[in-house]
Amino acid sequence: MFNVQSVAQTVVTDRRIKASGKLIGYLALATGIWSGQVMAQQQDLRATARTASATAPAGTSQDPDARAQQTLAQMTAEEKQSLLYGSMPMMMPAAKRPQGVQVGAGYVAGVPRLGVPPQVQTDASLGVSNMGMRPKDVATALPSGLLLASTWDPQILEAGGRMIGSEARAKGFNVMLAGGVNLVRDPRAGRNFEYLGEDPLLSGTLGGHQIRGVQSNNIVSTIKHFALNDQETGRNVHSVNMDEASMRESDLLAFQIGMEIGDPGSVMCSYNRVNTIYTCENKFLLTDVLRRDWGFKGYVMSDWGSVHSVGALTAGLDQQSGEQIDAKRWFSTELTAALSAGSIPAQAVDVAAGRILRTLYAHGLDKTPLSMDATIDYAANAKVARDAAAAGIVLLKNEGGILPLAQTAKRIAVIGSRADLGVTSGGGSSMVAPVGGWKLQVSAAKGIAKLFARKGYAGTAPVDAIKAAFPQAEVVFDDGTDTARAAGVAKSADIVLVVAEKWTTEAEDHADISLPDGQDAMIEAVAAANPRTVVALEVGNPVLMPWAAKVPAILSIWFPGQDGASAMADILTGRVNPSGHLPVTFPASLSQLPLTVLPGSDAPPADKATRAVYGLTADTKPFEFSYPEGSDAGYRWFDAKKAKPLYPFGHGLSYTTFRYDGLKATGGKTLSATFTVTNTGDREGAAVPQVYVRAPGKSKRLIGWAKPNLRPGESRSVTVTADPRVIGNFDAKAQRWVVPAGTYVIELGSSATETAATANVKLQRQTRKP
Ligand code: BGC
Repeated sequence: MFNVQSVAQTVVTDRRIKASGKLIGYLALATGIWSGQVMAQQQDLRATARTASATAPAGTSQDPDARAQQTLAQMTAEEKQSLLYGSMPMMMPAAKRPQGVQVGAGYVAGVPRLGVPPQVQTDASLGVSNMGMRPKDVATALPSGLLLASTWDPQILEAGGRMIGSEARAKGFNVMLAGGVNLVRDPRAGRNFEYLGEDPLLSGTLGGHQIRGVQSNNIVSTIKHFALNDQETGRNVHSVNMDEASMRESDLLAFQIGMEIGDPGSVMCSYNRVNTIYTCENKFLLTDVLRRDWGFKGYVMSDWGSVHSVGALTAGLDQQSGEQIDAKRWFSTELTAALSAGSIPAQAVDVAAGRILRTLYAHGLDKTPLSMDATIDYAANAKVARDAAAAGIVLLKNEGGILPLAQTAKRIAVIGSRADLGVTSGGGSSMVAPVGGWKLQVSAAKGIAKLFARKGYAGTAPVDAIKAAFPQAEVVFDDGTDTARAAGVAKSADIVLVVAEKWTTEAEDHADISLPDGQDAMIEAVAAANPRTVVALEVGNPVLMPWAAKVPAILSIWFPGQDGASAMADILTGRVNPSGHLPVTFPASLSQLPLTVLPGSDAPPADKATRAVYGLTADTKPFEFSYPEGSDAGYRWFDAKKAKPLYPFGHGLSYTTFRYDGLKATGGKTLSATFTVTNTGDREGAAVPQVYVRAPGKSKRLIGWAKPNLRPGESRSVTVTADPRVIGNFDAKAQRWVVPAGTYVIELGSSATETAATANVKLQRQTRKP
């Protein structure tokens, strides 16, 4: 959200506020000084909370566009412009903070005399996040994005979205900054945990459903971060240089699909540059792609601290968020000057204000009062989070059927640094203070991330979940920091569960994909001491597992959410049959990645002159890079290079077995594949059959999947129909999608590399508009 430079700026410009909001939040937690003020303010605000939308709407028409125009016609120039910039309440002096509204990531004033509601914004995709801004406030914490994506189940994403949107509404927010669909291109990227994997169809579909769920609460959701903000290193200055076809077939396609399904009211442009131009002033992205090609009718908001000019407005940005942390108040002070000087036409303000208004009307924000104290059914919502975890934990390995564990173990050792305390989640703006509160918060981030990201432990502790699931057993705990001691504890047990951990955060990437703090050596030693060792990976990214051959069972529990440890225990006992499948490839080594060195990891810090040119958000010297894989992110790259991953995209085991047969593919104009899935084992369970297509001369692409839940012996027929954009190429010159005529190979399987059946199909050439 901000960085060192912007904090420095804030200190200079406002002596009462010593740092930006996120930092203040943590200071508040640490000192208790701010908490009282914030709580008192919240009490005061309650009295006025419901007044904002009490005035009758300005327009009479029900059509949001017509209403927006009617309202615009009644607005003063200042009122119109006031919709175009927002601020961070936590960075305002207490006396100036908006009255009657909740304290969150951002705030845009309304126009009470015309019934235009204020926009009260909160993060994010995994729950109503807090960042210490509302001390003592908690919310239901969903599992991380990668876990949600591992469910491969749009309904789970939609239920999660519905739940977090309802909590946001109940807490007094009407704009939720939820819907991250950036593609996972590099497993070192710190923010992958928030996102939905490496495939555009999977990410876009799941993200779209999440947004649909959030917005079912008369709240605007924001798909983000548009676009190609796929790593954190140098995020404020780097430029991703990519040809149009590659971006249309990968990252942009994820957004396009997500927007078609979810219809988000807003799109958040990102920090980085694309082809050297900042995304928030990138006319190609914001005007040509979003509006001309995709017909987007909502508004574009900036990320916090990502605006660099007044001209961003005419390039397609409608709203500057958290204006205090940009180098200048571009859409307020600077725009006022530019309008008087005539360098920006007044019409540009009308256009942007009109888009914002129509979105508020289209999503019913004016009709739903901002109430800050509605009742939340936390028990029901906890179930949503736990069910998601149960459906998304991935069983990577289960040799000799060691899992599920019999209830005969007398002594179970749980080893893992904080497995006695709770589970962690990714750090940064998406971090939710879960119901029950923090058990521990530590400052684990480095660099800029240190200013606002903290590592926290909360929710059900793995040790407690195991105790509850295996009541007959004695459960012993070791933190795993002393390898010899941990091995000794392992030796004395019938079964060992190692909860290995790698924390990740917004604003910071990892140098490698190894487990930190000597955990690999510890797992080796523990496995040598006790061959009945199960490893649960509590991670925000794929990791290497040099010990994989030495342990019989491995689970990826990701960051599992507030009751994810109980979901894990349910899988270990067999109460839940695992059905999660990887939404990302687990590489076998760093050398398999398209970029072996993380771009910008060697970039020097920005000097003063550079910061002046690039704005105060420059952290390192600006740099540019390209992704060698182009549109072939993840498994497609591995396929093209014939590289064997440690665990492939799509992989996930079950306690039952499935047969996929009867594959029939039809071609012509539309490619579709029909097949039968049968549960051939003795337990009920859900399969995730996946269909990939290999176009002539191209690497494979996922065209569809299903998740049928089947009783033993039960069969289900599944038909998957391909979206031509997934199988086609984007012809940048002709500005259209082209599916070339030819023979396409269909592969049906349980992952990108575990293929059960193939079929050939002939397709006719077809084209489609962008
Ligand atoms: C993040 C956004 C977030 C915003 C507001 C930024 O740091 O990149 O995802 O919505 O802050 O908190």
